[in-house]
Amino acid sequence: MKTLVFASNNAHKMEEIRAILGGMFEVKSLEDIGCHADIPETGFTFQENALQKAQYVKEHYGLDCFADDSGLQVEALDGEPGVYSARYAEKNGYAVEGNRDDVNMDVLLEKLRGKENRNACFTTCIALLYEGQTHYFEGVVKGHIISEKRGDGGFGYDPIFVPEGYEKTFAELGNEVKNGMSHRARAVAKLAEFLKSEK
Ligand code: IMP
Repeated sequence: MKTLVFASNNAHKMEEIRAILGGMFEVKSLEDIGCHADIPETGFTFQENALQKAQYVKEHYGLDCFADDSGLQVEALDGEPGVYSARYAEKNGYAVEGNRDDVNMDVLLEKLRGKENRNACFTTCIALLYEGQTHYFEGVVKGHIISEKRGDGGFGYDPIFVPEGYEKTFAELGNEVKNGMSHRARAVAKLAEFLKSEK
């Protein structure tokens, strides 16, 4: 079976990917290939960051590889937090002690205070380096940002994001519903479809 590296050490993401691609590829994590580097993510778009991670693996290990990058984009904030989603608080000069997700959400809610346009979307971009070619797969889920946190599930900005067509936040909807419709699920589905067609 051909090896395909998923440039991630996130156990949850690995499990999800292996469940989908496991029958077709031996999917290896960064840990599995002995890569313990802090791979730089210095791009200005999700696409650039995903490519940067995948290219690092290809260059250093010579293996076909894919990597993902995700984030939240808020219309009224010109697409912020975007590629800075994970470290939005620090980007705005806040020192983070304790729960980073909580502080990130507080900073975002503060910036959105009084703004009428609450439209936002989550995006995942996957960059795949496969048999000498580069391919991209994107998944988007649109929604809006509410003004207070609701729900205990999920991670990141889930407690303040309500997807289009729903009244509950991602954190209230629970993992099963969220994973069936999320930006990540949509991008992964496109990746899987492509790889299946290549087999
Ligand atoms: P990553 O590229 O998947 O690690 O995502 C980067 C950051 O975007 C995360 O640390 C979160 O702050 C945010 N993010 C990405 N996906 C989600 C999601 O499904 N829910 C909430 N926040 C997310």
